[in-house]
Amino acid sequence: MNVHAAALGKAQRFDEQTTAFAGDVLDGLAQHPKRLAPKYFYDAAGSELFEQITLLPEYYPTRTELGILRDRGREISVIVPKGAALVEFGAGATTKVRLLLNECALSAYIPVDISGDFLKGQAEALRRDFPGLDVYPVTADFTAPFALPEAIAAMPKVGFFPGSTLGNFEPHEACAFLRSARDILGQGALMVIGVDLEKDERVLYEAYNDAAGVTARFNLNVLHRINRELGGNFDLSAFTHRAIYNRERHRIEMHLISRKAQSVRVLARSFSFRAGESIHTECSYKYSLDRFTALARGSGWKPLKSWTDAAGMFSVHALVASD
Ligand code: AVJ
Repeated sequence: MNVHAAALGKAQRFDEQTTAFAGDVLDGLAQHPKRLAPKYFYDAAGSELFEQITLLPEYYPTRTELGILRDRGREISVIVPKGAALVEFGAGATTKVRLLLNECALSAYIPVDISGDFLKGQAEALRRDFPGLDVYPVTADFTAPFALPEAIAAMPKVGFFPGSTLGNFEPHEACAFLRSARDILGQGALMVIGVDLEKDERVLYEAYNDAAGVTARFNLNVLHRINRELGGNFDLSAFTHRAIYNRERHRIEMHLISRKAQSVRVLARSFSFRAGESIHTECSYKYSLDRFTALARGSGWKPLKSWTDAAGMFSVHALVASD
């Protein structure tokens, strides 16, 4: 039994997801530099805080992408085959997919997310609002292979990956995700993907350091989640939110910085922090149109069309699975 399994053995009643969370947290905090995966931000409180982020004046991505989807919905509907099944990777709020459902003649919607409860509530509302639409929620971690429902086997497939969630992946992980999505969706599939663009550094900085401190609360919430779900004893007031733009690597980095030397217990393990030591909690990569289309080409997809807002803040791309 390795050291993680021993620590886990002491804790009570873990479901599969909590076990994966525990393993990743113990691993990440043992690394140098310490890190936590951004997918763990989204417990109920974190998802709610993220919804608040999307409404902040400084956080341009969500409203800009919605604008592009609204303005270009017609053009997108021309490319989307009639009767297609739309597979959304990492579905949260349904605001964006509703724009596509309004414009395109889709037969089925398959939201894929690890948070199953949230999905079911949203699925009900969609079935009510789009009576002709079959909704098949899939509870899965979309960064790993998963099976599509049998019922959509014969339908043309369209992937939907909005919100620049791709930005959370390291470039090699982004490539692996796009390849895996291509395998899951199959030959001839279409992909509609939202990608945040490089821009003035101050605009990027403000978007992740909002004046109201919502992003700070979102970042710190992952420590609260560790306390609650893994019996941790993080003192949230002893950590501070920091987001910086790393120009060489084209990415925003979010960190939680220890305000003092301290030690923290998670499950049966103890982790020590130096004053000023960071836990790296998120990367948010920003692309140029060229760097993204090159990535897509190298990952089994042929770029068909790209759309941006007038100010060039955000992009939406249509890709076709190439053979
Ligand atoms: C959901 C990953 C696209 O990177 O902008 C927002 C998450 N983090 N504010 C992003 C996030 C801090 C967001 N993504």
